[in-house]
Amino acid sequence: MAGKTYIVEHLDEELGPWSELEYITIARESQETGSKFFLSSLHPQFKVPDALAAIPSFTAERRGVEELYADKKSRVCLLDPQGKSDLAPEDADNFDVFLFGGILGDDPPRDRTSELRAKGFEGRRLGPVQMTTDTAVRVTRLVVEGKTPLKDIPYVDFPELKFNEYESTEMPFRYVKTEDGKPIMPEGMVELIKKDADKGIDDML
Ligand SMILES: C[S@@+](CC[C@H](N)C(=O)[O-])C[C@H]1O[C@@H](n2cnc3c(N)ncnc32)[C@H](O)[C@@H]1O
Repeated sequence: MAGKTYIVEHLDEELGPWSELEYITIARESQETGSKFFLSSLHPQFKVPDALAAIPSFTAERRGVEELYADKKSRVCLLDPQGKSDLAPEDADNFDVFLFGGILGDDPPRDRTSELRAKGFEGRRLGPVQMTTDTAVRVTRLVVEGKTPLKDIPYVDFPELKFNEYESTEMPFRYVKTEDGKPIMPEGMVELIKKDADKGIDDML
């Protein structure tokens, strides 16, 4: 089924390198599946990275989701870690638009999705474990476009990324798993995480 729209309401002032990789991935996957991806609520000075602007499924939007969908609010589903019920394939009939918080994951979660919950959109949960934003969009797509129930999606929780014999880091999130058991992550993300980890070590020295 095509024609769904995925909106990430960008809640941070700037666009950090992690978010940039996540958004490029969401745009590419939207392009591949014939759906649309909006990044909304962008500050006027926000500079859209060229790699993102080049993907036809992607739209950068200054307006917020409330304004964009003022007259169709009931067709918008907020993916909310505190939603009362879990997303199901039948929700494809209930909603046209799926809304996500444009925030990096944090551990423990600070519930910044509450900023969108306060706007009154109907919420659905994607199970009890925090996902990265691109994973949350991927899982939503598998449920509403692929009709796969949440419980049948293969996940890996809190994977350990091993950089070499001595260095590794545990990611405190749930990811979709590939056939060879690896977490699906945006292209370039493992390298970025390693670079940040090295920077952290350098700062301590
Ligand atoms: C990285 S998460 C941020 C969660 C976060 N710590 C917070 O402050 O709410 C980014 C977005 O992905 C979606 N998301 C992540 N895990 C989810 C889950 N288990 N159920 C529903 N939505 C989820 C939500 O839309 C959330 O705003």
